[in-house]
Amino acid sequence: MTIPILKGTIQVPGDKSISHRSIIFGAIAEGQTTVKNFLRSNDCLATLEAFRQMGVHIEENGNNLTIDGVGLLGLQASSKPLDMQNSGTSTRLLAGLLAGQHFDSQLIGDASLSKRPMGRVIGPLSEMNEILLAEDGHLPMTIHGEVLHGIHYRMTIASAQVKSAIILAALTAQSETTIEEPLPSRDHSETMLKLFSPESIEKTGQTITIHPGHPLQGQQIEVPADISSAAFFLVAGAILPGSKITIEKVGLNPTRDGIVRILQQMGADLTIDRIDQPGEPMANLTIKAAPLEPFHIEAADIPALVDEVPALALLATAAEGVSTISGAEELRVKESDRLAVITSELGKLGADIEEKPDGLLITGGKPLRVQNPELDSFGDHRIAMTLKIASLLVDRPVTIKDDDCMAVSYPTFVNDLTTLIKE
Ligand code: S3P
Repeated sequence: MTIPILKGTIQVPGDKSISHRSIIFGAIAEGQTTVKNFLRSNDCLATLEAFRQMGVHIEENGNNLTIDGVGLLGLQASSKPLDMQNSGTSTRLLAGLLAGQHFDSQLIGDASLSKRPMGRVIGPLSEMNEILLAEDGHLPMTIHGEVLHGIHYRMTIASAQVKSAIILAALTAQSETTIEEPLPSRDHSETMLKLFSPESIEKTGQTITIHPGHPLQGQQIEVPADISSAAFFLVAGAILPGSKITIEKVGLNPTRDGIVRILQQMGADLTIDRIDQPGEPMANLTIKAAPLEPFHIEAADIPALVDEVPALALLATAAEGVSTISGAEELRVKESDRLAVITSELGKLGADIEEKPDGLLITGGKPLRVQNPELDSFGDHRIAMTLKIASLLVDRPVTIKDDDCMAVSYPTFVNDLTTLIKE
């Protein structure tokens, strides 16, 4: 098998985190919200469907949405459980929002989501009122909507989902809430709330204060391309010899751009053309294959690249020397135990990876050679896409079990990849 060259310009789909939030904030605003470049992936459609079930009128026109907001307390009880499917973001953000509504809700999800920890949102939300019931801290979860009181909450893990759950609950509370973050996690909820209701939020350093009681006003949102989806092409372009890929209008929020900083540290040939416009920062990114130095990622780096670790692990196999990732224990409670799965599945392709309790040690610079062609995504979309890119680098064909899970965040991934393959 010859290693293909990737060449061309693509637009990857809209950002997953921002797409979820555009529906949530649009639904609880007053008036209409329009969303351009919404990500029509399984995760975001789970959020969309849940709000429809709660009486919100949402019109879809290709990747554009029009949402008729019902106000902060205008949602209606759903007649059946809200199915979060595989989406941790939908689950945790909705748990927060529904805690302060005047009705009860039930959240369910698929087998993988039902194994993921929900105690991290149940803890703070229970401090606002004893309202959530979940078997063992996992889905299914029943939420008895109640009047909430504000809290001061010092978070122990840097999680944007937990932070956003508390922000959404705090909007419906009777008094002010403050949240302290240990490290800055993605701030799309804060940015969007500031847009919909500037009086509702204040941020000083790592402390967020929510002032409840102010209505949200419908807005026009343009969702940037998802840097977490662009990551697979950045990695492919950086390591497939002779490649050159431009990815347009990629969201470059500083709480998400860790992979760009790592590529720069590695000496990758990356050009960033920033696009000057209001709202979330965006840029056109051009990557060309070049020799790479190893990287060292520590706990403080993790939040800004938390979803990119599988792709970065593959990138490290092409760098000359030993790359390290530490402080990444959160990776064990994602859609799969990503530290274990990266080690086993890239290991089947001959990658030299040592699994640590909180990270990985990757010795790069040797060509990948298939040891076992039967790869398993473990139903994890980011693992499936990483393995798809890795399969371009190896000496014989491989299969990837359950690769349809790519639709969780990037339904057209294989098509987009195919358009770039030149030989
Ligand atoms: C997300 C936050 C992150 C990330 C997930 C999306 C969000 O999760 O991994 O894919 O949209 O808030 P954590 O909050 O668990 O770190």
